[in-house]
Amino acid sequence: MSDTTFPSLPHIARLHAYTPGLQPTELGWTKLNTNECPYPPSPRVAEALHHEIGADGASLRLYPDPKSSRLRAAVARHHGLREENVLIGNGSDDILNLLVRVFGGPAAAVGFTVPSYSLYPVLAAMADAPAQVIEFDRTMQLPVAAITRCPAPVIFLTSPNAPTGVGFTNDAIEAVLAGYPGVLVVDEAYAPFARENAVPLLARHPRLVITRTLSKAHALAGLRVGYALADPALIGLLDRVRDSYNVSRLAQAAAIAALGDPAYYAAIIARITGTRDAFAAACAARGWFTYPSEANFVFTEPRDAAGAAGPVVARALYDFLLTRRILVRHFPGHALTAPFLRVSVGTDAEMDLVNQAFTAWPPPAPPP
Ligand SMILES: Cc1ncc(COP(=O)(O)O)c(C=O)c1O
Repeated sequence: MSDTTFPSLPHIARLHAYTPGLQPTELGWTKLNTNECPYPPSPRVAEALHHEIGADGASLRLYPDPKSSRLRAAVARHHGLREENVLIGNGSDDILNLLVRVFGGPAAAVGFTVPSYSLYPVLAAMADAPAQVIEFDRTMQLPVAAITRCPAPVIFLTSPNAPTGVGFTNDAIEAVLAGYPGVLVVDEAYAPFARENAVPLLARHPRLVITRTLSKAHALAGLRVGYALADPALIGLLDRVRDSYNVSRLAQAAAIAALGDPAYYAAIIARITGTRDAFAAACAARGWFTYPSEANFVFTEPRDAAGAAGPVVARALYDFLLTRRILVRHFPGHALTAPFLRVSVGTDAEMDLVNQAFTAWPPPAPPP
C-alpha cells in the first residue's frame, strides 16, 4: 500500500527515517559497525536481572517506576550531581527526541554540526523544524565562531564526535557557551573513552545539556538506557514531554547494577582504549590518514595498492571486508566521510582479523 493512501502530515510524508547500522541475526560476523561493547556487562547486571524477574516473572505484571527514581539517584551519585539534574531515557536517542520536542518546531530551528550523529537531522525533520547545519572542515576541530553565529534556539554537538572520534576540550565548549545564547546539547555517548568531559561545566552553565548512554562503555545497548544531565528547570521541561513509563523495570535494574560496579567498567574501558590506540597506530603505519580517536571506534582513510584514497576505495574495502564477514561502517553521504571507514573497537582478536584483512586487500586479480 502506498503511503499516499493515508492523510499523513506533509513533513512526515517527506521524511527519510534514520538508517541504523546493519544488525545481522545469523552468527559468524565480526560485528564492528555500531560501536557496541565487545565485552559483557558487569556480572552484577545478570544477577540484578534474575532478581528483578524472580522465579516466575511476577514482577513484570507491574509497571516500572515512572520516575526511575533509584536509577536517577545512582546516576546523580555517579556524577556528583543531584537527582534533580538527571532525566532517564529509553536510550539516549529518547532523550535527544525529547530535547527536539521541547525546543524544535516549524518556527524553532534545530542546529547541529555535520558530520556528526545522523539522527539529529531526522529528529528535526520529525518535528517539522528547519535545520541549521554547521559544517566541520577536514581538521574536524570545533567551528566555534560558526556555532556562536547559529540562530537556532538549540544546537546538538557530539563530543567525542562521531564518526571521527575527535574529542573537543572543555575550553572549546566554554567558548561556544560564552557566545551562543541558546541551549547547547553535548552528546557524550562516547565520553567514557575520552580524556575530558563537560560534566564539570554544568555547575556554571544552565544552558548546557549533556546526554549519556549505557549502550557503549556499559555494554547495555540491548536494554536501552540513556540519560540527560542539566539544570533542574531544563530537566523539568524534558520531564513534561516524556512518556510516563519510558524505561522498563529490567532496564532500570540493570543500569543501577552496572553503575554500582565502577571497577569492572574502568578495567574494560582501559582495555578498549588500549586496543583502540594500537589499532589506530596500525592504520597510520599503513600510511592511512586516521583521526586521533577518543571514542571506541577508529575513523581511517584507506589507500589502495596504487596509493589512491577516496569514496570508491573506501567502498571497495568495505565490500572486501564483507566477503570476510567483517562488518564496519561507510558513510558515503558526505564528502568528508565518504573516503573513510569507521571501525568499532572490538577485542584484540577481532582487531587482528581486521588487520589481516587490511593486509590481504586488495585481493590478487583472478588469472585471465
Ligand atoms: C553520538 C551518539 N549519540 C547517541 C547514540 C544513541 O545511543 P543510545 O543507544 O543510548 O540510544 C549513538 C549511538 O550510536 C551515538 O553514536
